[in-house]
Amino acid sequence: MPEQDQSKEEKNFYLDIKAKSKAFFLKGLNGYDWGMQNRLSNIFNPKSGRTVMLAIDHGYFQGPTTGLERVDVTILPLLQYADTLMLTRGILRSIIPPTFTKGLVLRASGGPSILKELSNEQLAMDVEDAIRLNAAAMAVQVFIGGEYETQSIHNLTRLIDMGNKYGIATLGVTAVGKDLVRDAKYMRLATRIIAELGAAYVKTYYVEKDFETVTAACPVPIVIAGGKKIPEKEALVMAYNAVQQGASGVDMGRNIFQADDPVSMIKSVRAVVHNNLKPAEAFEMYNDLKKKK
Ligand code: R5P
Repeated sequence: MPEQDQSKEEKNFYLDIKAKSKAFFLKGLNGYDWGMQNRLSNIFNPKSGRTVMLAIDHGYFQGPTTGLERVDVTILPLLQYADTLMLTRGILRSIIPPTFTKGLVLRASGGPSILKELSNEQLAMDVEDAIRLNAAAMAVQVFIGGEYETQSIHNLTRLIDMGNKYGIATLGVTAVGKDLVRDAKYMRLATRIIAELGAAYVKTYYVEKDFETVTAACPVPIVIAGGKKIPEKEALVMAYNAVQQGASGVDMGRNIFQADDPVSMIKSVRAVVHNNLKPAEAFEMYNDLKKKK
């Protein structure tokens, strides 16, 4: 039994201070429950409102992609600089130390390899395993305009339903097939469909022209994938333009782990995303860090 409270007269209820009700820091996500918002705060930095997600899930359809042949050797040194790690549960359980406590985004769809029709994916993980692994979010590809468009949409909506039940966010990933044009019109269509169907946030590709219309038309946060490896300077320009035009960060893989110096690259990407460092200065930073090593 707690001791009896003897000092009732001295209680202070701060009657002159109005209780605050603050909006959640991420666009469009006020309607979610505490658990979901808490997990999203482990993906996005509440100060900058942005994230540097390190994407290393490529092996789920590509096998040992260049730079990911030995995740234990090449990726573990990068973990301390990532806000979030996006990966498969296989790599998580086998290689990532459980002392990694930042956001985890688990790849939850799969099926075809690069040798087959990629849009023919199905859900490849149960939400219970995501909970067991303490995931903040689950990721699923959506192939708008692809051969198995409807199937991939159903994967998305089923995952959202499972995730919402337990407060795990769903990241909808726009997967652009070989024959589709990657322009703002397509990205607006794909990202908006994914958001309308209930994804907590959306991953897409950056497009040079009118990218700000893509982020404007999407009611929830957008992060950009890095795409194929390009020169480091160009990747920093892309990350800068994307966040200046409304993206809430990057989900970058190859342009970090295939860079000449991955540690210097992820540090420079962080400066662009979280501190709005201009691309020229960020590239200088990259070169300085690389030289010092
Ligand atoms: C596709 O393999 C995955 O969804 C990747 O996570 C995504 O494409 C981001 O990686 P990258 O920056 O290498 O494109």
